[in-house]
Amino acid sequence: MAGASLSSGSMPTAPAKLFASDNVAGAHPAVLEAMVAANSGHALSYGTDVHTQRAEQAFSELFGRDVRTLFVYGGTGANVLALASLLQPAESVICTDWAHIHVDETGAPEKILGAKLLDLPCSDAKLTPDQVRSAARARGNPHHAQPGVVSLTQPTELGTLYSAREVRAICDVAHELGLVVHMDAARIGNATAALGGSREALRAFTVDAGVDVLSFGGTKAGIVFGEAVVWFNPQHAARAQYLRKNVTQLHSKMRFISAQYSALLVNDLFIELGASANAAALTLFEATKHHVSLGLTTPPAVNSMFPTLVDPVKTRLQEWSFFWDWDQDAHQVRWMTAWDISAEDVTQFASGVAAALESPNRSE
Ligand SMILES: Cc1ncc(COP(=O)(O)O)c(C=O)c1O
Repeated sequence: MAGASLSSGSMPTAPAKLFASDNVAGAHPAVLEAMVAANSGHALSYGTDVHTQRAEQAFSELFGRDVRTLFVYGGTGANVLALASLLQPAESVICTDWAHIHVDETGAPEKILGAKLLDLPCSDAKLTPDQVRSAARARGNPHHAQPGVVSLTQPTELGTLYSAREVRAICDVAHELGLVVHMDAARIGNATAALGGSREALRAFTVDAGVDVLSFGGTKAGIVFGEAVVWFNPQHAARAQYLRKNVTQLHSKMRFISAQYSALLVNDLFIELGASANAAALTLFEATKHHVSLGLTTPPAVNSMFPTLVDPVKTRLQEWSFFWDWDQDAHQVRWMTAWDISAEDVTQFASGVAAALESPNRSE
């Protein structure tokens, strides 16, 4: 490796946008307009305002039934609140070893909820009904935390998807065993777009499949900040309004979160933006898959892909247009597209990848 370098003159102009994550993008103009509109005059705080009532109603319309929706500051807070509303004392949460609640929330669920996470090994980041059944055998053993909740991520941290049928199979087993199901859908627009692109498709893999509580992401879909938690079962929602502040997630000027959500739900904007990010990822896949060393063999299901890149090409590309390392042992990185990535951005990024890979001194 020592001494290897790429000639600095060989790289094209870097794209204006990054392929590092979907939360590197700004907010959609419709969201900003909604925030500005919500800024006029005074409104009661903590969610007792007309903007919040409108957004709550929009969620009930989205799911075609009365749902209970509470807005929070961020994705980790949404997951913590959702789990708090489901967990009983001494219970545990079944999830995958890739789950955001397990890997990327700095231990917040364990610290705040005092609950054990049972992180099961899943190479594709998807739980199976058999894994749930097997983990639930701890129920009844006084020496074990009692499995009480199954937490699924949709789409998963590896960019895979559960079909509606797969979610239903897990929910059926969970409910049969007396467990309840949480879904972390931080990228719900991407999942919905990939699974049919309609409200019916959304309902099919959430409420109709038997999910009890949903973390409904907005930040990655074009809002400034704030996430929603949606309860399909009023019984689980009963204590949620108290738990929200108890887990530090009650925003006083709530209208600014809820107005953003109303904008995101008008004409299913979140699905449109998810579809756009997914399409950009597919275009990037098509433009780069011929570089065999990247190992891109399967088209992305949503908006992420995990190519293999070794130094010095990897570092040089990251310096040119930053993206995150994913699995350093496996030399995998993550490319992720946001809602505002254009075909031109993809072309530029792909040309940089080609230039870096085709450089005569690309590796040792
Ligand atoms: C699967 C998943 N859940 C939740 C979140 C929200 O995390 P944060 O609390 O950082 O907004 C993310 C963000 O990356 C995520 O990928």
